Amino acid sequence: MVPEHIGFIMDGNGRWAKARLLPRTAGHLAGLKALKRVILACIDEGVRYVTLYCFSTENWKRPADEVNYLMGLFSEKIMGEKPFYDANGVRLLTLGDVGVLPADARDSLLEAVEATKGNDRILVQLAINYGGQDEICTAVNRALAEGIGTITPEVIRAHFDNPFIPPVDLIVRSAGEKRLSNFLLFDSAYAELVFCDRLWPDWGKDEVRSAIAEYESRDRRFGGLKK
Ligand code: FPP
Repeated sequence: MVPEHIGFIMDGNGRWAKARLLPRTAGHLAGLKALKRVILACIDEGVRYVTLYCFSTENWKRPADEVNYLMGLFSEKIMGEKPFYDANGVRLLTLGDVGVLPADARDSLLEAVEATKGNDRILVQLAINYGGQDEICTAVNRALAEGIGTITPEVIRAHFDNPFIPPVDLIVRSAGEKRLSNFLLFDSAYAELVFCDRLWPDWGKDEVRSAIAEYESRDRRFGGLKK
């Protein structure tokens, strides 16, 4: 069965650029183009939810020019893709604390969320200033602030940014590293993991198809026994 929700760790932009003697930022721009190919491929496959790891709570440690470039992509490129979202039924949401981003990046993300809220073919969560540990702590603190005294997995999930989005079924990471890097820690409890050596800017339909094929070959038991 096709996964309902796929999370992508879009790694390898820097290496892709380095291999071409280009600045790392050129890799991020190429990564943005790959991201559109991947969204189209997910639509073709019938995937309903996609979460893209665009900027982690730890990415602030990168050199200022790289951080600024990524913030510039969020402020300048997101709304420019409105025809793409509308033509393909893409609804955008953010995941993570975008409130502390530079105002133009934050405003453009919020504008894109508002502008795409009528689209319903695929929901794309942009994880920006997102960290899985931070997500869990934020949810717990929201529950405590409401006076909820007993924290359960259901309570935590109900206090996520977008609690109506189902848990991720498949997490895919490009560029060879085999770790989660603080991505979707809570919801990855029973997610399938697929790692692929290809660098993110080289991703497209074939890589999405092969990740889904690997997912479909797995036997998901969620801690139970094989049916
Ligand atoms: C990781 O590769 C990639 C990122 C930290 C940024 C991902 C962002 C995008 C693809 C652009 C998203 C833009 C919008 C507008 C949604 P890396 O830099 O760690 O690569 P490396 O491991 O080869 O150095």
